[in-house]
Amino acid sequence: MSWPVGVWSLWLLCLASAVLGLVDICNTKPKSLKLEPMCVHRKPESPEKGTTLEQGPDKVPNGTNPRVWELSKANSRFALTLYGHLAQAKPSTANIFMSPLSISNAFAMTKLGACNSTLEQLMNVFEFSSIKEKTSDQVHYFFAKLNCQIYRKKHESIELVSANRLFGEKSFLINETFQNISELVYGAKMMPLNFKEKPELSRMIINEWISNKTENKIQETLPDGAIDSNTVLVLVNTIYFKGQWERQFDKENVFKTEFFVTESHSCPVSMMYQEHKFHYKMFSEDKVQVLSLPYKGGEISMVLILPRKDTPLSEIESSLQLKKLSGWLDALVETKVSIQIPRFRIEDEFTLKENLEALGLKDLFDPSRASLPGIGGERENNLYISDAFHKAFLEVNEEGSKAAATTAVVAVGRSINFQREVFIANRPFLLLIRMSTTNTIIFNGRVANPCDQL
Ligand SMILES: *[C@@H]1O[C@H](CO)[C@@H](O)[C@H](O)[C@H]1NC(C)=O
Ligand SMILES: *[C@@H]1O[C@H](CO)[C@@H](O)[C@H](O)[C@H]1NC(C)=O
Ligand SMILES: *[C@@H]1O[C@H](CO)[C@@H](O)[C@H](O)[C@H]1NC(C)=O
Ligand SMILES: *[C@@H]1O[C@H](CO)[C@@H](O)[C@H](O)[C@H]1NC(C)=O
Ligand SMILES: *[C@@H]1O[C@H](CO)[C@@H](O)[C@H](O)[C@H]1NC(C)=O
Repeated sequence: MSWPVGVWSLWLLCLASAVLGLVDICNTKPKSLKLEPMCVHRKPESPEKGTTLEQGPDKVPNGTNPRVWELSKANSRFALTLYGHLAQAKPSTANIFMSPLSISNAFAMTKLGACNSTLEQLMNVFEFSSIKEKTSDQVHYFFAKLNCQIYRKKHESIELVSANRLFGEKSFLINETFQNISELVYGAKMMPLNFKEKPELSRMIINEWISNKTENKIQETLPDGAIDSNTVLVLVNTIYFKGQWERQFDKENVFKTEFFVTESHSCPVSMMYQEHKFHYKMFSEDKVQVLSLPYKGGEISMVLILPRKDTPLSEIESSLQLKKLSGWLDALVETKVSIQIPRFRIEDEFTLKENLEALGLKDLFDPSRASLPGIGGERENNLYISDAFHKAFLEVNEEGSKAAATTAVVAVGRSINFQREVFIANRPFLLLIRMSTTNTIIFNGRVANPCDQL
């Protein structure tokens, strides 16, 4: 059972998400959960009580636990911080797409086994410490509650499914309490694999499992060499979403037009068109138009944030904070608006290690500093996280791609009606897929170049 001394055990996290669809983790009643992770972080008493980052009375919706609501805000703040970091690191013409919820979920699971500064950094980087609760172990309870609300069946046409799984080296003793809590709270069962002798086969098994859970939309999440014979645990979270617009676009109204990746460079897209009442508003001071397109069932919608024509998206990105975003979303009003949105498909993948290190999550990835005794026990406490892989996929209405130029005339003709509001997404925009009832950002990203796949 003993792990060779001096060999650092690798622990990988990998995450995948697909926007298109599933597994039920919600059969357990959170109230009956027994939560006793090895270490608990106690927040130092805050000197300025009551003056948190966001001011003003927070209107927690009826029937929502205020701590769950705070966790949701914590997740959103993390989502925007990570997005801001990625947006700066990537060229402005590159698409970005991710599920911050998936990332928070996987690292919350990791947190179950963390101690000392590793635990503290997880609490801070993922903003869990902003929840008005004294101890870190409660976060898991609220996460379970939040997941139950998010993944509850909403509408027959909506699929929103998350799956969690632990893949462990079969000869390595993984703390049973850790396994039990993981399974109870996150629905993450342990699957033993033979990383030591068959690392490549193990990698394929994990990638296949992910592919299976995401309707084959996410493949090859763990790249070549991500698993070797020192790997002891791989923790996986997947999210799959598939929704139908409450008001679908008419295939007949799809037309070819140009998408302006930059002012001087354009490429062809198939533009979908419709005119109807949507939650929408132009924010002149912030130089953006914000539009919310609901999926059937009403709880989940896609929010598009389109900068004014003369404003680069980067200007919006650099000042985007949760307070501003929430302000926009709260101010949307039902408006008759003529909308044009390209059909597209984007895929994105990145390793999280460097991005999260830059945000302050340092010890977890550091072989000499990581503290994860809750996972490996006393004798095997030299675990650290070698890397974390994230992969996400989004497809927006892939039907009707054969729309011809004749319909273009019709659609363009109709859109030249200056009486109504016009929302034409023919240049880079931001998008969120969010659940309004829990205020959760399930996916977010930017569509900078939707042309490739047409
Ligand atoms: C497993 O973790 C629990 C805390 O979650 C701890 O009380 C227990 O001692 C650990 N077991 C072993 C064998 O290390
Ligand atoms: C909140 O719930 C209570 C009782 O369930 C109800 O009387 C009240 O109208 C609800 N308030 C809102 C804003 O929905
Ligand atoms: C880290 O946590 C372990 C396990 O709880 C404890 O034994 C150790 O003293 C802690 N180390 C530091 C530097 O605080
Ligand atoms: C873990 O769960 C199993 C099955 O429910 C149970 O038999 C076992 O005692 C639990 N172990 C711990 C350490 O809680
Ligand atoms: C996933 O695996 C199960 C059984 O292992 C199989 O029945 C199912 O069809 C698979 N789903 C996909 C999408 O491949």
